[in-house]
Amino acid sequence: MRRTILITGASRGIGRAIAERLLREGHRLSLGLRQPDRLVGTPLDHPDVLRVPYEAGDPAAADELVMKTEQRWGGFDGLIHCAGCLHRTPLLFDDGAEPELEELWKINLMGPWRLTRAAWPLLKQSGEGRIQVLVSMSGKRVKGRMAGYPVSKFGLMALCQAMRNEGWDDGIRVTAICPSWVATDMASGVSKVPAEEMTQPADLAELSCSLLRLSNTAVPFELAVNCALEV
Ligand SMILES: NC(=O)c1ccc[n+]([C@@H]2O[C@H](COP(=O)([O-])OP(=O)(O)OC[C@H]3O[C@@H](n4cnc5c(N)ncnc54)[C@H](OP(=O)(O)O)[C@@H]3O)[C@@H](O)[C@H]2O)c1
Repeated sequence: MRRTILITGASRGIGRAIAERLLREGHRLSLGLRQPDRLVGTPLDHPDVLRVPYEAGDPAAADELVMKTEQRWGGFDGLIHCAGCLHRTPLLFDDGAEPELEELWKINLMGPWRLTRAAWPLLKQSGEGRIQVLVSMSGKRVKGRMAGYPVSKFGLMALCQAMRNEGWDDGIRVTAICPSWVATDMASGVSKVPAEEMTQPADLAELSCSLLRLSNTAVPFELAVNCALEV
């Protein structure tokens, strides 16, 4: 089934790998990007791809993105939230670190919330709407001293459960994708795990693509994707 899918965070990393893979599979895309021109001359510079300016922290941006997607494609039946940020803010954060925490809530939690709310009527209309959310294993457990990021991702996981509950009777199926480290810019500062031992963005693109082939009775709510054993 050919879908029309709205994706955030597709300029690089996991979102980019997913977008390129879904385009190759024949899906039509709308990408919400901070700098749409950065994709000129790439495989995503394509007639089946709409690129729209989108800043996840701007409350008006979600409505604009949905409106422009509807204008161009007449609607959409999939939404994939990949935009996100990482700060390693600890529990006992320094004075002056509050803006980092606020950015985590704003981009990792309120961004997906607002965009889901704006997209809801169109997802509902399709009867087989799909939402995939790049949560993280940090939305399921807290490791080490990082506090702000996992708190934002636990909130995002709660949002996924609320979306699942709200959308079930209308055929909207939600998957919270929860990787540990993935070899992207976000994990470039990680020294304990070499990039080649991390989950690769292409593997998550494969999972995302496979999820879209499943019927309303078979979509898993949660996918934990570990690159190393966690017990
Ligand atoms: N990498 C990991 O180890 C890992 C593990 C688990 C979960 N995740 C989650 O997976 C998602 C994608 O991560 P990634 O590894 O692909 O990260 P990445 O390579 O750092 O890419 C982040 C993406 O989010 C976009 N973005 C950031 N802030 C934004 C904002 N304010 N408005 C709009 N877009 C914004 C970036 O756009 P620009 O290019 O414009 O900056 C970029 O496309 C994130 O939610 C992350 O938390 C990542």
